[in-house]
Amino acid sequence: MQVKSLTAFLAFLGLNCAKASPFSKRGYNATTCKKTSVAILGAGTAGITAAQGLTNNSVTDFLIVEYNGDIGGRVAHTTFGAPNQSYTVELGANWVSDPQLNNLDRTLSFCATGASNYSSLETFNQDGANDFTDLINEFETDYSTLEQDAGYILTENLQDRSTRSGLSLARWKPGKNPEAQASEWWGWDFEYAYPPELSSQEFGIVNYNTTFYQYSDANNYVFDSRGFNAFIKGTAATFLKPNDPRLLLNTIVTNISYSDTGVTVYNQDGSCIDADYAICTFSLGVLQNDVVTFDPEFPSWKQMGIETFQMGTYTKVFLQFPPDQVFWNKSTQFFLYADPVERGYYPIFQSLDGPGFLEGSGINFVTVVDQQSYRVESQDDETTKAQVMAVLRDMFGAENVPDPIAFMYPRWSLEPWAFGSYSNWPPGTTLEMHQNLRANLGRLFFAGEATSTEYYGFLHGAFFEGQAVAEEIADCIKKRTNCSSEINYQELHGTTPLSEYDAANGWDVSSFLTYGFYG
Ligand SMILES: Cc1cc2nc3c(=O)[nH]c(=O)nc-3n(C[C@H](O)[C@H](O)[C@H](O)COP(=O)(O)OP(=O)(O)OC[C@H]3O[C@@H](n4cnc5c(N)ncnc54)[C@H](O)[C@@H]3O)c2cc1C
Ligand SMILES: *[C@@H]1O[C@H](CO)[C@@H](O)[C@H](O)[C@H]1NC(C)=O
Ligand SMILES: *[C@@H]1O[C@H](CO)[C@@H](O)[C@H](O)[C@H]1NC(C)=O
Ligand SMILES: *[C@@H]1O[C@H](CO)[C@@H](O)[C@H](O)[C@H]1NC(C)=O
Ligand SMILES: *[C@@H]1O[C@H](CO)[C@@H](O)[C@H](O)[C@H]1NC(C)=O
Ligand SMILES: *[C@@H]1O[C@H](CO)[C@@H](O)[C@H](O)[C@H]1NC(C)=O
Ligand SMILES: *[C@@H]1O[C@H](CO)[C@@H](O)[C@H](O)[C@H]1NC(C)=O
Ligand SMILES: *[C@@H]1O[C@H](CO)[C@@H](O)[C@H](O)[C@H]1NC(C)=O
Ligand SMILES: *[C@@H]1O[C@H](CO)[C@@H](O)[C@H](O)[C@H]1NC(C)=O
Repeated sequence: MQVKSLTAFLAFLGLNCAKASPFSKRGYNATTCKKTSVAILGAGTAGITAAQGLTNNSVTDFLIVEYNGDIGGRVAHTTFGAPNQSYTVELGANWVSDPQLNNLDRTLSFCATGASNYSSLETFNQDGANDFTDLINEFETDYSTLEQDAGYILTENLQDRSTRSGLSLARWKPGKNPEAQASEWWGWDFEYAYPPELSSQEFGIVNYNTTFYQYSDANNYVFDSRGFNAFIKGTAATFLKPNDPRLLLNTIVTNISYSDTGVTVYNQDGSCIDADYAICTFSLGVLQNDVVTFDPEFPSWKQMGIETFQMGTYTKVFLQFPPDQVFWNKSTQFFLYADPVERGYYPIFQSLDGPGFLEGSGINFVTVVDQQSYRVESQDDETTKAQVMAVLRDMFGAENVPDPIAFMYPRWSLEPWAFGSYSNWPPGTTLEMHQNLRANLGRLFFAGEATSTEYYGFLHGAFFEGQAVAEEIADCIKKRTNCSSEINYQELHGTTPLSEYDAANGWDVSSFLTYGFYG
């Protein structure tokens, strides 16, 4: 970077050395910082994609800094099961959808996957099997109205509203009916990790349409023994050699100083990096939890973008039963439970012991999101296990359900490198507000699933954002000029005309519309 010393850097920031920057108290010595052209903060999908994008553009002087001991980020797996019958299970991202197959590493094509069939569903309540597929069908009909109305809001540049309002306008009114609530959870919360009242109708539908209608609605569940993140490792292997010194694992970033001329990254182990540019790919949860300190503090437009967008939590609770005592229908993939009291209480069980998946594994897992996730993640395993077992015994009959031989779940909301699972678009949040989350600050750029306008939440969102930021920075480096800033909005309006946004960014936002309306 152009700033050659901490002193010069502080002078640039207008800080008087006599006051002594808190950074200098920590004993950092800028002349001993590692120097690099681009510091990539985080080795998840966005970070590794950005590094590949830079490499593609002949920028090879970069350092990738990663908290964990391995790459992959929120695409993470573990070994689960009783000692001699264990399997690889995914703790984070799990489904490969078509945009991913079309855009991410080819390794994906070789992943062991099974097609999720959302019609392969049985429904239950506290008294056992209870067929409420009519309610699910009713929800789906009203959801089509919700989609069309979202298209109208988007093209006419009207004010957004919550999905709850949108559903009510579409005449979907579940009231206190547990089966209707379960049907709605299955149709909405299961995807967004937030309930309809806390989700944008307009962008929730944009997100779904661009992901599932643009390519195809195929959704393949990964159960590859190498783990889903084999594809990120495959991408990394195209430009990193074994033990490449440009990959700094087990390195926790604590403080970041940025300006129009460079970025300095300070790590917990006392090391530091002086970079011409930096790409911050930390999750929205990490940014919201103030665990990394930025200097100078973020301007209010940036902080507003960060605090307005939402970080959801999605928790998979894994159970393994004796494989010869499987009590559910092995031909069925999903088992939806309507709790009489609490909406979203252990609502969806998913079998992995069935044709095309991990047959003979005895594994079934239940997914909770949002408030139910926070509760489950803050209580101990034994409490959760007892609650899940009580639900299963209500669903399938106490006499049929043996004790599990293995039990495990991750706690995403508490992971200090994630603080949640993936982002969600709140109601009434404009493109302008989201762009503030995305926009750079001087030489500090942001990329990750949350910065993707269409594909927030998804792996392919992280991919496209990593790719775009790499192109942008490679361009700056090649032209040897200062990058023009990505646009940001100090004043926010109720809606953002697409034309304005398009022009400002040189983006083809009309791509949102292509499939929704003509597809
Ligand atoms: C339970 C769950 C289920 C999901 N299901 C799906 C799915 O089915 N399909 C789908 O497409 N997506 C799914 N996702 C979302 C998907 O995992 C993410 O969109 C994607 O992995 C995000 O990539 P990223 O690069 O933006 O962020 P990350 O993967 O979070 O990468 C950021 C990296 O930064 C590192 N980092 C954070 N803080 C620091 C620090 N202080 N110092 C150094 N490094 C740091 C982190 O360790 C991490 O490796 C799911 C996620 C979860 C958690
Ligand atoms: C910083 O490190 C360099 C190289 O080791 C050394 O010459 C210099 O005196 C150090 N500066 C301070 C302020 O400690
Ligand atoms: C880099 O180039 C390869 C080969 O053309 C391509 O497959 C890959 O998608 C590119 N990566 C990015 C991030 O654009
Ligand atoms: C696991 O070990 C137990 C006890 O040794 C044995 O009864 C069982 O058959 C084994 N299961 C598998 C899948 O090998
Ligand atoms: C999905 O499941 C339903 C219900 O069991 C079944 O009728 C349908 O054939 C399945 N679809 C595929 C593609 O297997
Ligand atoms: C989403 O797709 C549906 C079905 O094609 C369409 O009617 C609707 O207008 C689309 N909505 C948006 C916001 O793209
Ligand atoms: C550096 O960050 C840590 C937490 O990440 C914070 O406690 C500390 O105050 C920060 N130091 C400075 C000098 O800002
Ligand atoms: C199990 O599911 C299959 C496929 O949906 C169905 O045909 C069969 O009747 C179910 N069996 C029982 C016992 O419910
Ligand atoms: C880039 O901006 C910095 C700070 O504003 C300035 O010092 C430098 O000369 C500029 N470089 C170019 C090539 O314009």
